[in-house]
Amino acid sequence: MRWLATFAALAAAVSILLAQDAPAPEAEKPAEPAAAEKTALASAAYFVLRNRCWNCHGEPGKKAWGETVPLDWILDYDRLIEAKLVVPGKVKESRLVYMTVLGKMPRAYDEHGKPGKTAELSEPEQAALTNWVRAGAPRWPEPKYTHEWVPVGAPEEMAASQAHLFTAHDGVLRFMKSDEGWSTAVLRGESWQPAPLGEAPPVTSTPAADGRTTWLTATDAKARQTFVVRWDGTKVEPVKERIDGVFEGLSLMPGRDGNLVELAALGRRVIVNDTDEIFQPGAVSHVLGPNGWKPGELPKFPATWVFRHVTRGKDGRLVLLAEKDRRNIAAVIEQTAQDWDIQRWEWTGNRITKLQFDPQAESLLAVVDGQAQIRRRAPDGFGPVAAFQPFAGLLDCAWDGARTRWTALATLGEDHTQTWALVPWRK
Ligand code: HEC
Repeated sequence: MRWLATFAALAAAVSILLAQDAPAPEAEKPAEPAAAEKTALASAAYFVLRNRCWNCHGEPGKKAWGETVPLDWILDYDRLIEAKLVVPGKVKESRLVYMTVLGKMPRAYDEHGKPGKTAELSEPEQAALTNWVRAGAPRWPEPKYTHEWVPVGAPEEMAASQAHLFTAHDGVLRFMKSDEGWSTAVLRGESWQPAPLGEAPPVTSTPAADGRTTWLTATDAKARQTFVVRWDGTKVEPVKERIDGVFEGLSLMPGRDGNLVELAALGRRVIVNDTDEIFQPGAVSHVLGPNGWKPGELPKFPATWVFRHVTRGKDGRLVLLAEKDRRNIAAVIEQTAQDWDIQRWEWTGNRITKLQFDPQAESLLAVVDGQAQIRRRAPDGFGPVAAFQPFAGLLDCAWDGARTRWTALATLGEDHTQTWALVPWRK
C-alpha cells in the first residue's frame, strides 16, 4: 500500500509542476496562501490587536470602562473563533472586523482616563485584520515571552555590600563595593570584565546616539557641580564644561537635533549653592551641544508630580515616570504641534526604589520592596507584570544596552553574587 501512497504523492507533485507550467486559467480562485504567508498575515493581525485593542480587552479580569460583557481575551485565538467574533474566511460576518470598519472600535482614552468615543484604525491596520480573516484567519504563532530571570554565567565569589548598575552601549557598567572599596567592571557577553570606570558610582547613564559611547553623569558635592563623563569602551573621559548645582532626580537621555546629550533634572529640589535650596516643582533640563550646555525645554507638568525617570523614546517623544500621592504614574508624552499630549497609566506601588525604562521605552522596570517587576509597553500604558522575582538580596538592575535585556545583580549567600537576565519580549 505504501508505494501507492508514494505514487499518489508523486503524481500530485507532477501535476503541481504541470500546473505551474500551464498558462493560468482565466477565473482562478485565490490560491491557498503558503505557510509563510499565513504566518505573516496572522502575525500582522495579532500585532494590530495587541497594539490597538489589547490594552482595553486583553488583561484577564479587567473590564474596559462601561463594558457590560468583558472582552478580556482579545488575544485568545480559540475564543475569538468560538465566540464567532472571527468567522474564518467571512469578513462581513466577523464582528471583530466590522466593529472596526464601522469606526466603533478601537477607542481612545479621554482626559479622565476612560474610553472615549473615537479613534480609528489606520488603513494598513484595518487591512491587516481584513486580509487575515479573508485568508481563513490562520492561527498566529504564540509570541514567546520569557517571564523569568535566567542566570548569566556562574556565581562570582564576591562579598558585595552595595552595587550600582548602569546601562551602557557595550553592556552594563558595574560599581561594586566590598571591604576593599569600589571595584568596577563591564558586562560583556556572559561575564564581567574589569574596566577603569572611575572612583565612585555616577548618578545616571545613557548610551549615546552614535552607539559607540555612553554618557554618565556624576555630581561633585564639594564644588556643588554636576558633570558628565564619556565611556568609549576602554576609558572614561570628562566632558570639559560643568553645570553649577547639584540636582535631585537626574536623568540623561540622548539629545535631539544633533545635541549630544540632554540632562534632565526632574526632582523638585535644586541646590544651587551652599545655602540656597530652591524648590522647583517642575522640571529643568540642560542640553549639551557642540557649543556647551544650554537650557533645554521640558513640558509643564502638574506641580504635584515627583519625577523619577525620563527618557526619549522612538521618534523623539519623551517618556517619563512620575509619582503622585504615592501612586505611580507612567506618562507617555508626545510633543504635538502646539502642546504636549500626555497619555498616562497609573498604578499603586509600595516602596519603589528604582524606576527605569529601556532606551526605547518599550518596557519598564520597577523595584518594589526589593523585587524586580517588569511591565511591557502597550499603546496606552504599561501592561501586566511580566516578571515578578523575589530576589533575596537584590543589589541593582539596569538595561543591557548591547543585548536588549534587563540585567539584575543579587547576592547569593554571604560571599557570592549572581547576575540574572530577563528578555521582556521577543518577536
Ligand atoms: C480605550 C478602550 C478600548 C479600546 C482601545 C478598544 N475597545 Fe472595544 N470596547 C471598549 C468598551 C468600553 C466596550 C463596551 C462598550 C460598547 O460596546 O460600546 C467595547 C466593546 C467591544 C466589543 C464588543 C461590543 C459588541 O457589540 O460586540 C468588541 C467586539 C470590541 N470592543 C472590539 C474591539 C477591537 C477589535 C478593538 C481594537 C481594534 C477595540 N475593541 C479597542 C473599549 C475599547
